[in-house]
Amino acid sequence: MKRVYYFFIFATVIMLSLAGCQQSGTTGSGEATAQSVCSIFSPSGDLQLTFSMDATRPQYELSYKGKPVILPSHLGLELARDKHASKGLNETDLMDGFEVEKTDTLSFDETWEPVWGETKTIRNHYNELAVTLQQKATAEGNHSLPTREDGGRVLILRFRLYDDGLGFRYEFPQQPDLVYFLIQDERTEFRMAGDHTAWWLPGDYDTQEQMTQESRLSEIRSRFHDAVNWGNSSVAVFSPTGVQTSLQMKTDDSLYINIHEAACVDYATMHLELVDNETKALTTQLEGGSNAYTPNPAPSRYPLPPVFTFVSHLTPDATGLKGAMQTPCQSPWRTIIVSDDARDMLSSNLILNLNEPCALDDVSWIHPTKYCGVWWEMIVGKSNWHYTDDQPSIQLSDFQGLNPSTFQPFDYSTAKPHGRHAANNEKVRRYIDFAAKNGLDQVLVEGWNVGWEDWANMWKRDVFDFVTPYPDFDIKALNDYAHSKGVKLMMHHETSSSTQNYERHMEEAYNLMNHYGYDAVKSGYVGDIIPRGDHHYSQSMNNHYLYCIQQAARHHIMVNAHEAVRPTGLCRTYPNLVGNESARGTEYEAFGGNRPDHTCILPFTRLQGGPMDYTPGILETQLSTWSDNTSWVRTTVAGQLALYLTMYSPLQMAADLPEHYEREDLAPAFQFIRDVACDWDDSRYLEAEPADYITVARKAKGTDNWFIGGKCDENGHQSVIHLDFLDPGRSYDCTIYADAHDAHYEQNPKAYTISKKTVTADDILNLTCAPGGGFAISLIAL
Ligand code: NOJ
Ligand code: CA
Repeated sequence: MKRVYYFFIFATVIMLSLAGCQQSGTTGSGEATAQSVCSIFSPSGDLQLTFSMDATRPQYELSYKGKPVILPSHLGLELARDKHASKGLNETDLMDGFEVEKTDTLSFDETWEPVWGETKTIRNHYNELAVTLQQKATAEGNHSLPTREDGGRVLILRFRLYDDGLGFRYEFPQQPDLVYFLIQDERTEFRMAGDHTAWWLPGDYDTQEQMTQESRLSEIRSRFHDAVNWGNSSVAVFSPTGVQTSLQMKTDDSLYINIHEAACVDYATMHLELVDNETKALTTQLEGGSNAYTPNPAPSRYPLPPVFTFVSHLTPDATGLKGAMQTPCQSPWRTIIVSDDARDMLSSNLILNLNEPCALDDVSWIHPTKYCGVWWEMIVGKSNWHYTDDQPSIQLSDFQGLNPSTFQPFDYSTAKPHGRHAANNEKVRRYIDFAAKNGLDQVLVEGWNVGWEDWANMWKRDVFDFVTPYPDFDIKALNDYAHSKGVKLMMHHETSSSTQNYERHMEEAYNLMNHYGYDAVKSGYVGDIIPRGDHHYSQSMNNHYLYCIQQAARHHIMVNAHEAVRPTGLCRTYPNLVGNESARGTEYEAFGGNRPDHTCILPFTRLQGGPMDYTPGILETQLSTWSDNTSWVRTTVAGQLALYLTMYSPLQMAADLPEHYEREDLAPAFQFIRDVACDWDDSRYLEAEPADYITVARKAKGTDNWFIGGKCDENGHQSVIHLDFLDPGRSYDCTIYADAHDAHYEQNPKAYTISKKTVTADDILNLTCAPGGGFAISLIAL
């Protein structure tokens, strides 16, 4: 049965008059000269966007309540002179030589309902300005100028101004002089008004798994080298002032500014390069093992912008170029979220709103999911994904095609097992029993399929087939067993970044999932990309990730991709994209630890584009109590529980081992993981400060029950929570999971208390979070 969840509740579109645009020298209706200055305001009037021309270069600026957010900043793209472009070696840039042909404005207001999310409905309310530019000449001089019947190449800049920020993009209409073109780099500028505090990650073409740095913009360069996670399996940095988005900043007068992007489709992911006092030119140097073969970026042909300007820097593919485009096409939206209240950064829906509506007719098969998995014990090093230690390498295909008629893939039934293979029948049954008993929907099993013996960092193309189980994993019996208990298994497809191999096997792999009744896959992209030389966030790789999501949708499969590109709100269009990793997740607690403030930053940065499969719930925080791993989790037990609220995701893992959750000292805390919802009708951010603390209250979907989570950094935090969001006059059973008075993420992480009382909307809760701690509260309506 087809069931369409997505619908417009209310939508209005009003064409505004051009009253907001002062166009000196206007020549007719909507036509303007190169001196045009055009301003629009957000619906509340708090934000102002001004578009103007700096001679023949387009520029924009943004203010919030009269304070500057973006100082005048140029827009444009440098294009490659390349035989693959329609204009070949005569290509010209889209940087200057522009005149304003016309401006159009409109006001838009709709309310839509996400398939899953933090709130039941989302309002999409903005004022729009579209500037149509004609490029009649370029400063490059030595090339023949573009021609169009009415004289020039056309580029449209579309700005959407919301009460919580700005989105804008480049649109490239189809036209005789712009058909196929190659992006040398996009040169969108974001000129900051001061030396703001920033929470940043090193800009990298291949990994996002670093610890966030907190520094002034002027300190990025000196902090850069040590901020890089050089040990990651793929590292490709491009500039000592290059940072990733989403980038969170705070000004000295307490404005919060966030730069990211929305709807990154058929386009490379954007990084930002800061121009600081030492910058002589935009970068031309690459570093890190994963870009050893990538041509260095070409020098820019345009003047360097002023200090504290971020300039967009796209991820190249193996050619070093940033995009191969065919008109009509467009860039992703460049987004700037702004507020003087940090909580607004977390409740903003600007990025979802800038994405296209749901593309799927039937979404009835998409559902929020709580799961456990055969996973943490491998990450910690107690057991393994692979089956045997006896083979120097595994051959799954006749990769040289020498013996097509006689080739047999490696026969694991003859292999000697090493005895630490975790994905075995007995263990998986144990996890299924545990899930069934505790109301968990699914069990992830990693290492179920052959090929893990030589899976990583070999640039081996035919690394997995995604359909053949190891001898000790009975795929039919285990799925049957799970289904008999009301549980599903969750599929795992580690690709080792061999996308060529994955795409070849995908249809068969998804068919296998359909056959056995899997409806969710966790995929992974560890190591350098095959086709070799490409990068994780290039245009071609972004197309690969989207292809997987689209193909999975055909098979009614939900996707949770690890190491894939950081999300940009595409889950609105494809709600079967239920999760991504794309940052440093809980696994790093087993690799030396995440700083206690890590999860107080991620919602401001990584989570802006979509949910993260952070995999919380590690209640036995000392790994050495059950393994040889000396790493330990940098939060308290109550802090782990808080993450189910503060790290929003429709997919939530109970990541620790069943035997830990069943322990007498930890089972009472596990009760909260059993109870907590993962889909919501409402969410209220009660307290927030980047890298310090976040407290959020959420109303569970289709119920009157609320859950509250508060997480803080290494300094601890005092929370005063007014329950005035509860239904007036109603009583609630309140259970509070809090840090004990002497709890501490380092010295005493497992000290927690559980208290119960009856509360109403008139009550106020005072809660003390330990250093690295937090709290979790359930409020069940009576
Ligand atoms: C890295 C992923 O983040 C992790 O969750 C997974 O277990 C390994 N890759 C193996 O695929
Ligand atoms: Ca990872």
